[in-house]
Amino acid sequence: MATPTYQPHAQTSKAVAWYQPTLIQLPTPTKDLFLRYTDLKTEDAVKAHILAVREKAWQIHPYPCIGLFKFLNFSIHLSPIYPEILNRIRAGQTLLDLGCCLGQDLRKLAFDTGTSSNLIGADIEASFLQLGYELFQDRASLQAHFVTGSIFDEDFLATRKGSIDIIYLGSFLHLFNLAKQRVIVSRLEELLVPRAGSVVFGRHIAALEGGPFFMESLGWDMFRHSEVTIRELWGAGWEVHSQLEEYESATQESGNWQGDTTKQMTFWAIRR
Ligand SMILES: C[S@@+](CC[C@H](N)C(=O)[O-])C[C@H]1O[C@@H](n2cnc3c(N)ncnc32)[C@H](O)[C@@H]1O
Repeated sequence: MATPTYQPHAQTSKAVAWYQPTLIQLPTPTKDLFLRYTDLKTEDAVKAHILAVREKAWQIHPYPCIGLFKFLNFSIHLSPIYPEILNRIRAGQTLLDLGCCLGQDLRKLAFDTGTSSNLIGADIEASFLQLGYELFQDRASLQAHFVTGSIFDEDFLATRKGSIDIIYLGSFLHLFNLAKQRVIVSRLEELLVPRAGSVVFGRHIAALEGGPFFMESLGWDMFRHSEVTIRELWGAGWEVHSQLEEYESATQESGNWQGDTTKQMTFWAIRR
């Protein structure tokens, strides 16, 4: 197969607070996965490989999740409903990871279940999906399906409507303002299997009080949820659980550009 070419982003300066030049620590689940899932045999080899691929990802889009190595903070397994998700995937149910970036959480699922053909990753950046194969060295073995597109496209995953059992949103919903989040919710409702038990779960920046905020790094108007506002977003007909959790991070404290030392995330799950 020809080597993929990547479209560089117009603004990739590293003189920003959300670029951490070196990788000091690997979260334990991430280290375990790289050492057992890839051909890399030592922690130093893993770190050098990650740094090289991270540089390519930064040229594609200088997101904080790339600059601060947050793509190494696998998050899906921290969800309180992760054991149930593993069982459902082993039983053949379909999972969509929307805004999957390098597909890191899909690799975690594939690693933990030993199955990947019923996994779908979607992202607006085609290059991230390609780089994921390079990062995890699994182009020949991973059977997950990857789709390039925006959730706001009218024909986004049109052939999958009404067929997806489980949708995961890792640090995705909070990227958008409330009006756009309402559009996302209606698109997700169309994609889900129309039966009780279909589930959307995810994580986002923790907030005790929900409300709009401006993300300097992206220049975007976003909206952070509290337990109250996430319930309001989904409305009637959905059972909503939301809770704060601590997590192990690959981001250095000193490079923590939001001044947030709590390392907390809100994990939520919504069931039809
Ligand atoms: C903050 S990153 C989160 C990545 C990963 N899910 C995680 O938990 O770390 C957001 C991802 O959403 C993707 N994205 C942004 N807008 C999108 C859209 N409209 N449709 C699909 N993906 C989008 C970005 O390219 C990026 O990979």
